[in-house]
Amino acid sequence: MTSLFPAFRFGGDYNPEQWPREVWDDDVRLMTKAGVTTATVAIFAWARLEPQPGAFDFEWLDDVMDRLHAGGVRVCLATATASPPPWLAHQFPGSLPVDARGVRLGVGSRQQYSASSSAYREHALRLVEKLAERYGTHPALESWHVNNEYGCHAPRSYDPESAAAFRAWLERRYGSIDAVNEAWGTAFWSQRYGSFEEIPVPGAMPTTPNPTMLLDFDRFTSDALRDLYLAELEVLRRVTPHVPVTTNFMGFHKDVDYWSWAPHVDYVSDDHYPYPGNPDAHLMAAASRDLMRSLGGGKPWILMEQATSAVNWRARNAPKPAGLNRVHSLQAVARGADGIQYFQWRAAKAGAEKFHSAMLPHGGEDTRIFREVEALGAELAELSQGAALLGREVPAQVAMAFDWDSWRAIEQESNPTTIKYRDTVLEWYRPFLRRGITVDFVPPCGMLDAYDLVVVPVMQAASQAALETFSRYVDGGGTLLVTYQSGIVDENLHIWLDGYLGPLQRTLGLHLEEFAPLAADGDLHLGAPADAPLPSLAVTGDLPGVAELWQEVVIPHDAQVVSRFADGFAAGLPAITRRRDQGGAAWYVATQPSRELLDDVVAKVLDDAGVAGLLDQPADGVEAVRRGDVVFLLNHTGKPATLTVRGRAHEVPAYGAVLRPADDLLAD
Ligand code: GLA
Repeated sequence: MTSLFPAFRFGGDYNPEQWPREVWDDDVRLMTKAGVTTATVAIFAWARLEPQPGAFDFEWLDDVMDRLHAGGVRVCLATATASPPPWLAHQFPGSLPVDARGVRLGVGSRQQYSASSSAYREHALRLVEKLAERYGTHPALESWHVNNEYGCHAPRSYDPESAAAFRAWLERRYGSIDAVNEAWGTAFWSQRYGSFEEIPVPGAMPTTPNPTMLLDFDRFTSDALRDLYLAELEVLRRVTPHVPVTTNFMGFHKDVDYWSWAPHVDYVSDDHYPYPGNPDAHLMAAASRDLMRSLGGGKPWILMEQATSAVNWRARNAPKPAGLNRVHSLQAVARGADGIQYFQWRAAKAGAEKFHSAMLPHGGEDTRIFREVEALGAELAELSQGAALLGREVPAQVAMAFDWDSWRAIEQESNPTTIKYRDTVLEWYRPFLRRGITVDFVPPCGMLDAYDLVVVPVMQAASQAALETFSRYVDGGGTLLVTYQSGIVDENLHIWLDGYLGPLQRTLGLHLEEFAPLAADGDLHLGAPADAPLPSLAVTGDLPGVAELWQEVVIPHDAQVVSRFADGFAAGLPAITRRRDQGGAAWYVATQPSRELLDDVVAKVLDDAGVAGLLDQPADGVEAVRRGDVVFLLNHTGKPATLTVRGRAHEVPAYGAVLRPADDLLAD
């Protein structure tokens, strides 16, 4: 694996159009001082670049590009389409997004366009073409940054053009109205459609909407945004085929299915803002970084945006304590990033983000934040030396399935209980993080052969092909862990009849008869039941502990019962099972274990799969990750931590990071 870049990228969004030219010279001087390699320019500059329809003003951007080039700073040039100027909506009110209740969203903030608006698309593409023609051969140009955070604010639009585009999307997907009726199960509640023209967008309705219609509208929304991206990409590929293209993702973002986007970027970029007030922030951050690496098939990615300190958009915006910005940055590097960038270079003087931190704070260069930025720039430059890290791979033995359709499906109304998909996946990810075990995320039909363990948490919607992928993995010798509420419905959200799970019944050696979600918050227990209704079930393991949320009636065929429910509706019935045949092992967990029990369950399954973590003792708030020839020991907490690796203790300061050559650290 190699890097697209000669050194780690370091820099941020640069918005010179918000400042007078005198400030620009100072910007370049301070960027050089801070070791900035890359500025992301013109993200929200459309109104400045095209102040009147068709009248372009590039003179100021020429100047910016030249100054940056003279200062040795490369440019990731935005296509500036993220926020159309007010004149677009003035001339084409139909370009504005419309919400589910039919309210048209107005001008005065940003991202005010419907993904299906022809006027928006036409004007956006004209601008992109002009930019590509003008700057395609500029020596400062390093890459293209298309639009910005597609789907961040108003991904769904219910305007007439979106409705027409939705119908066309359905026609492409299903071919005939009969196929739509079949997939959507419209025999239910008299919903049968006679033609595509009758199909509306799923806006406000008297009661629960058709689930498959909703899911298809979610899929369409992600695809409509992607089509916009692809339209810009087509222009850039045509005019500047030599320039790499990216767009910034937003980690686990429900509205945009990044598995279908990732093949179309030259490198994955991500924006992530861990909240310093949340002791679990590093968990989501670690998982997001693993997702970004996985989206690119293991290739290096760029952390396009983070904050040096506070943001402005939470109810309370605590700053990052000294050191934490470095830890967040090195966490991204450890998990595969070849660049660390920020929103934004210079803190804004006016506008909605004036209280957002930046690389250069309101107080200027003689500040804690700028000193930390300079130090990090120097450290990244140093880490770029040699072959140990830049462009190197992040090995992972464990994969976790992540599926946008299941996310959308399990969070619809009319489900057995309330399950937050992403939070639940993170709970299953936590025990791996605590042990210093790197996890790759995989899509439903992803390649699994390289992994020693595959975890499938709450993947409610699964096609035949997806379920067979997991079965084949076990047949081939893999260890699989499947949780409750996986393989319950197919890709059309139709129930897998006769015991759920489809082809996984054979693999897991069981079927399900009834669900028993808890009526209210409370604890369940796993362990020896007082009065076992199925005494013939031998319990082979011992995983006592507390669980929550969910029970179900599991009927084993040839699975061993590792643990039973001690109480509740399913008292005495299997809670955790394991089936082993000539191939691998298949575990099933019929509840949501408490954190402690989940940790024990994962420990047993890891043992079964022969996977060991970098950390001898699982721990919270810390990380151990290997990338290339380096092991990163990270401490996200405000207290010094001792991390033990291969019997040797390593002190990591509060909000600190220690990097060690893997050969030394892992030597026996
Ligand atoms: C997003 C956007 C940026 C900025 C930051 C603030 O990531 O892409 O333009 O608004 O949020 O945190």
